[in-house]
Amino acid sequence: MTPTPAGDRRDMLRRQIQRLTNLPSLPLVVQRVLQMVDSTSVTGKELAAEIEQDAALTARVLKLVNSAFYASSGVVSTVSHALVLLGFEVVKGVVLSASIFDIMNSSMMGLWEHSLGCGIGARLVADQTGACEPEEASVSGLLHDIGKLAFICEVPKSYNRLIEAIRVSNHFLLEVEVEVLGTDHAEAGEWLAKRWNLPDTLIRPIRWHHDPKASEDDAVRAAIVNVADVLIKSHGYGFSGDEKVNPIDPFARECLQLTIDDIEKVVEKLTGEIKKVQMAEA
Ligand SMILES: [Fe+2]
Ligand SMILES: [Fe+2]
Repeated sequence: MTPTPAGDRRDMLRRQIQRLTNLPSLPLVVQRVLQMVDSTSVTGKELAAEIEQDAALTARVLKLVNSAFYASSGVVSTVSHALVLLGFEVVKGVVLSASIFDIMNSSMMGLWEHSLGCGIGARLVADQTGACEPEEASVSGLLHDIGKLAFICEVPKSYNRLIEAIRVSNHFLLEVEVEVLGTDHAEAGEWLAKRWNLPDTLIRPIRWHHDPKASEDDAVRAAIVNVADVLIKSHGYGFSGDEKVNPIDPFARECLQLTIDDIEKVVEKLTGEIKKVQMAEA
């Protein structure tokens, strides 16, 4: 059998992801929440009531808010409170992240922890630099690697083989993805994010977190996620698919005007917050 050219594999994967061939469509409650947030007439009370209909989702949303946004301090105890503190758009991202957690099985826990750590890191970088709203940055961090979820669901065998080969060879994940699958998780993440109708402000950091300079808009968010991704990988919390840590993208540092002192402060806070998350989970 002749091997499929990389371009064909890419097109096949794109179609698979766009059709949600193996990926689940979002639960009805999540779809309704996304629609409600987009409608101008919805009130916080109505939105909270919709989310609270699903007790399991509510519990996960609150847990996520308290770990990714407020360092497991249990500050936020109701969905209405989360809506007041974080705003509709951010809660939409949190609801989405909480339901993505449901799609992940136990073998994907490393990826979930990496995503959570990146969400926390992105909030801290945004806070340190004042480059964007920390809560919005956190959602971008939580969702940045959904392309890997797409690969795991759509081509599980190939992707597991690829991860295993990287573990042995110590090559860069992104390069091997392109070589084996014809595309990388950043592009696959964009396809999935579009299929799930996520807003452009979230799609761009997902698409460009490994190359923020290429993002025409929202380069700042992509840069924040790039920095948070590198910092959480070097911290070692979770597992993103490979152990190799790239340096922070020079453009990301420049566009955030990030100093060594800023990085040191973020690393120190990140270490403290990850400790709290681990203690809460122990
Ligand atoms: Fe990534
Ligand atoms: Fe990542």
